[in-house]
Amino acid sequence: MPHRSGRHFLQIPGPTNVPDRVLRAIDRATIDHRGPDFGRLGLEIFEGLKAVFQTAQPVVIFPASGTGAWEAALVNTLSPGDRVLMFETGHFASLWNKMATKLGVSVELVPTDWRRGIDPAAVEAKLKEDKQRQIKAVCVVHNETSTGCLSPVAEIRKAIDRAGHPALLMVDTISSLASTDYRHDEWGVDVTVGGAQKGLMLPPGMSFNAISDKALAANKTSKLTKSFWAWDEMLTMNKVGFFPYTPATQMLQGLVVSIEMLHEEGLDNVFARHGRLAEATRRAIKAWGLDIICRDPKYYSPTITAVLLPEGHDAEAFRALALEQFNISYGASFGRFTGKMFRIGHLGDVNDAMMLGGLAATEMALALANIPHKKGGVQAAMDYLVSQHGSAAKQAAE
Ligand SMILES: Cc1ncc(COP(=O)(O)O)c(C=O)c1O
Repeated sequence: MPHRSGRHFLQIPGPTNVPDRVLRAIDRATIDHRGPDFGRLGLEIFEGLKAVFQTAQPVVIFPASGTGAWEAALVNTLSPGDRVLMFETGHFASLWNKMATKLGVSVELVPTDWRRGIDPAAVEAKLKEDKQRQIKAVCVVHNETSTGCLSPVAEIRKAIDRAGHPALLMVDTISSLASTDYRHDEWGVDVTVGGAQKGLMLPPGMSFNAISDKALAANKTSKLTKSFWAWDEMLTMNKVGFFPYTPATQMLQGLVVSIEMLHEEGLDNVFARHGRLAEATRRAIKAWGLDIICRDPKYYSPTITAVLLPEGHDAEAFRALALEQFNISYGASFGRFTGKMFRIGHLGDVNDAMMLGGLAATEMALALANIPHKKGGVQAAMDYLVSQHGSAAKQAAE
């Protein structure tokens, strides 16, 4: 592959751009993972992660991609044959279902058209039907990365409570954590699954479980086979900043810096920035006259927007052309939308000007690929961003 000048526009919904400051932290020499410096690093990380998950409860870290943390959530809380309720919001919800089924859990998968988030009323209805209280867990993908639909976790919690059902609530926040408001404790989530490579701006390869007391109690009786993923030894060693097996030292050195950066910006500002970039992206897409996969604005994702191409246009060919001509990558298409959509990521270490660069490349690629669209998407995004900065500037002056 010949050199392409300038920075690549990594407009996929994760792994995201790793900031130079995090790269420099990862670049440091290896330290002894049983030594005092590591212990201090570990304790700082476990404390820092609590603020990110908005929890006072423990967060365990696995040297694995997000899929590992999915497995850890299931095997630590459930027993063979346990019933679990899942919602097929898209590709990732389908994969979690597939994993649970392989592990010997009995999943009821509620279908959707992949164009909306979970309706809390459907959760309530399903749980009310379960008179014997056999459902042990409700598993929710907070932000369905394959479609750009966000499910309302706080409302789902209320729906479970209205049904008076004791099921655990497990939530996958792999593409929402540290990008949009998420409250493990306040929303009564029992296991939150997180990943390093999106809002936390780290390379892939590290993932998390935030664990409630109720999940810890379920762990005591759960019978699914677990060893590498077992929480108990992790939690014991984590209390003093260490791990039961060799941790991903350099990744943890990066994590401490990424948490620091999130706090320097302020989590509320991080969430507002993601909301702003998402809205700018949607305004561009609407100005182009193209359809957003997520049909209902109440489910719009703050981190990824999937764009449906007009009938007869191949999204994979479009992605290849955009990469070749403008050095930009979009998320691929999955399942029922294979070849029909491309996904624009707007999460992690990205600012307004970077986003506009990505949208400008997209508008040019649409023209070059002869995809019917109107001009002016980038202008619409710019107008929106200016209006947001304008109101912020006015507020600061008052
Ligand atoms: C919502 C969601 N869940 C789970 C996963 C799987 O994580 P990983 O690919 O890191 O194993 C992803 C990956 O993008 C995801 O977006």
